[in-house]
Amino acid sequence: MLTAAHRPTSDDLSLDAFFATLRAEEFPQLDASALAYLDYTGSALPSLRQLRAHDELLRDTIFGNPHAEHGPSARSTRALDTARALLLAHLDADDAEYDVAFTANTTAAVKLVAESYPFSADGVCVLSADNHNSLNGLREFARRAGAPVAYLPPDGELRLTDASAALGELSAPRGPKLLAFPAQSNFSGVRHPLELIRAARAADFDVLLDAAAYLPTARLSLRAWQPEFVVLSFYKLFGLPTGLGALVAKRDALSRLRRPWFSGGTVEYVSVQNDRHSLFPDARRFEDGTPHFLGAAALPAGFALLAHVGMDRLASHVARLTMTLIQGLLALRHDNGSPMARLYGPANGRDRGGTVAFNVLHEDGRVIPYWVVEERARALGVAVRGGCFCNPGAAEAAFGFDAGAAARCLAEGSQGAFSVQRFARCMGREGRTAVGAVRASLGMASNRDDVDRAIGLVQAVAA
Ligand SMILES: Cc1ncc(COP(=O)(O)O)c(C=O)c1O
Repeated sequence: MLTAAHRPTSDDLSLDAFFATLRAEEFPQLDASALAYLDYTGSALPSLRQLRAHDELLRDTIFGNPHAEHGPSARSTRALDTARALLLAHLDADDAEYDVAFTANTTAAVKLVAESYPFSADGVCVLSADNHNSLNGLREFARRAGAPVAYLPPDGELRLTDASAALGELSAPRGPKLLAFPAQSNFSGVRHPLELIRAARAADFDVLLDAAAYLPTARLSLRAWQPEFVVLSFYKLFGLPTGLGALVAKRDALSRLRRPWFSGGTVEYVSVQNDRHSLFPDARRFEDGTPHFLGAAALPAGFALLAHVGMDRLASHVARLTMTLIQGLLALRHDNGSPMARLYGPANGRDRGGTVAFNVLHEDGRVIPYWVVEERARALGVAVRGGCFCNPGAAEAAFGFDAGAAARCLAEGSQGAFSVQRFARCMGREGRTAVGAVRASLGMASNRDDVDRAIGLVQAVAA
């Protein structure tokens, strides 16, 4: 029976009706395949309207390699320029202040900054411990340049609660200082405080904001927050195209980066006999080789989909399903009253997105390995992810790893022979320490049935 707190309002009902229609019309492949797709943090799905628009565009239009003057080439250049403008508008960015370099994905955008940032021994590289490996890798470039590397630790809810104060302590070096953190964790769904950008900039840091997991269901205003660098992948926003991401950067911050090389597409000129070159003055000097011009041509349909759905409506939909999932998981009990699921990250809806990480537990509290849950999920047609999701720092904090024990277990075996099962046995504690979680993430086409199937999966595995 519904309590007053759970009784759906007319707003809830109209939200449900809108997304039910959207799913039926735009994502029919989901119900046709009977799949509960719960990996939106991995990738969004393309809608039929995007596929149709792109198909029509490619049938009717001739696009050429953009680095020439003929009609098809100029059309591709215009497609890229239009895409840049649309992205800046979506991010509420002033184009006099920010520029866009298209990349293959978020990782490639981070690497552009990593290899060009003027790290030095009198500066510092500060990373959130909760970061995707594509940002953790920054530390290798920092260390190569002799810059110290420091981490901001998450608290018990996997939030960066005291990060501004910690940053103050790390701001002493006089050289270049870079802070990199995710606006939303791909492990726990936590939305880290964007105020951290202000605190960091006040302490003379440049900020690299990883918006890959945040942007699919949240608005970001660069006019308001002013990070130097923002990185993203388009397939996470609207499924199509894959293989296209962006580095959105302040023009003055871009001018402080030192490209380690030049390549086709990045230069005004190169002279071989004079051994000299001149890079483009704008973000094009970061676009190595031929950009993904057909992908850029697909972006207007993707942004149009977001406009049709509305970011606020999408955020409400995902927030509501997320709380249904979390409450459903936490309510599951064994006969002895012990929980069937252990959640990592916040159980409340405050400052979190639609990514939910958890483990399934035996009656005696032992963790059921995530790969056992994955296997059952595959059999039940539930697409969830298992492991640490390329975010080892959040995982280590979530599972409460002892660093010394983890170091010993990681050192076991030879290089190239790492096995998570052996690592799990080594970390041991009779199955009480998890070495990976299960992640369900919600998005535009998710519905209540997907959530129920995730909860049913946990019940089936724990029983
Ligand atoms: C928060 C976050 N950052 C970075 C990445 C890396 O994105 P890509 O693989 O598209 O480069 C991901 C991918 O899941 C992510 O969720």
